[in-house]
This record gives sequence, C-alpha cells and structure tokens, in this order.
Amino acid sequence: MNNFTNNNENIKYSVNETDMELIFEHSKPFLELLNQYDCALLEIETKLNVLNKELAFKGDQNPIDSIKSRLKQPRSIIKKLQTRGFTTFTIEDIKKNILDIAGIRVVCPFPEDVYKVAEALVKQDDVDTIIVKDYIKNPKPNGYRSLHVIAEVPVFLSKSKIMVPVEIQFRTIAMNFWASLEHRMHYKKSINKTEIYERLSYCAEQIANMDLTMQQIRADILNME
Ligand code: GTP
Ligand code: MG
Repeated sequence: MNNFTNNNENIKYSVNETDMELIFEHSKPFLELLNQYDCALLEIETKLNVLNKELAFKGDQNPIDSIKSRLKQPRSIIKKLQTRGFTTFTIEDIKKNILDIAGIRVVCPFPEDVYKVAEALVKQDDVDTIIVKDYIKNPKPNGYRSLHVIAEVPVFLSKSKIMVPVEIQFRTIAMNFWASLEHRMHYKKSINKTEIYERLSYCAEQIANMDLTMQQIRADILNME
C-alpha cells in the first residue's frame, strides 16, 4: 500500500486489487498525472474561447454554443486498460494507451461552425494533431455524428514542458441532442433495443438534413437586405 504513495513513476499497478480505485485516488504519481491532463484542458478551453470571441467578432454569431470538459474517472481508466488486456500497468502505460483522459465537447450551432473552429484550432503551431475521426462525413452505423480530434498541447510546468493529449469532440446542437438521448441506451440491458435504434437512426438522418437546411437558411438571411 505504501508503494502507491511513492513518487516513483515506475511503480507497477496491479488491476487485480479490489481497492484499486481507492489506491489510485491516493497515489501521488497518478494524481500528478491527472493534474497534467487538467492543465491541458485549461489550455484547450482558452484556445477555444479565444477563437469563439474572434470569430464572433468577424461573423454575425458565436461559432461555439457551449464547451464542456471532463477528466476520465480513475475507474474508467482502469476499466479501459483491462479491456485492452492489461493486468498490471504503469503511469507510462496509461499515458501511452489512454488518449481520452482529458476530454472536451464543443457544441456549435451549425456544421460549418464545427469545421471552422476545428480547423482554426488544429492549425495552431503548438497544437499537434494525432488522430482525426470525422463521424460527420462518415457517420457511425447507428447514426452517430461528431468530429473527433485527438491533439497534444504543451503544458508549461515549473521545471519542464510536457505534451499532453486531449480528445476534442465537435458537434452541432442537434447532433448533441441526438447523442445525449442515444447515450442513455448504453446503460439498458433490454434485448429489445432494435426498434429504439431504428427510430434513433431515422432521427439521426432527419437531424443531419435539418442541420444543412438551417445552415442554408442562415446564409440566405445573412444575404438579405
Ligand atoms: P472509446 O474507447 O469509447 O473512447 O472509443 P474509441 O476509442 O473507439 O473512439 P471513438 O472516437 O469512436 O469514440 C470516442 C467517444 O465518442 C466515446 O467515448 C463517446 O463519448 C463518443 N461516441 C462515440 N460513438 C458514440 C455513439 O455511438 N453514441 C454516443 N452517444 N457517443 C459516442
Ligand atoms: Mg472515450
């Protein structure tokens, strides 16, 4: 038990421990790691807020409706490593294998705002894009739509600079509305999910069409006298 409060980064954590979560929450290296992800969230949030201000000044409307960030729960970090076959792991294993410890959801009014903000963010010279998954252009089979970017940002600590990955999900208000409802199905054990999924899939299509129609209406209104 003492080992877990040791500051040594090379400690091997055993996922078979029943009180794993408790150990994690009191382990200094782990808390230090989470703190770094928290700092990376601050960095990205600031960048997004700056873009929102600047683009709103240039255009007629804020391109970002809301920003929400979260740190992955220790329990979820452990679970994810377990599903990837780890029985023991180190801080290094966590850093290498879990890229969504820091997560930000950016909700924009229209699809073109999603791309405008995402492109402006990833082209910044201190943002290193690692993975882009465009589920708007290529929706998931269930109808899920969002633009996912995993990017590393520098975090300046008192004695060093570290690059920390953040998962950023960009989606429209309507896509977010859909994803929140669909997410509730993840916790249902019922075997009769098919009908609900069919209806959700139908709504996902409707939403995608509506997003584009509304976007066109916005453009037409802008061009009016
Ligand atoms: P995870 O291991 O779950 O992080 O998935 P992944 O590594 O395959 O990445 P992906 O980009 O597909 O999904 C990352 C995150 O996007 C998930 O953790 C969810 O927050 C969100 N997401 C992905 N697919 C769906 C979906 O079908 N429905 C909803 N509601 N959210 C989704
Ligand atoms: Mg995830």
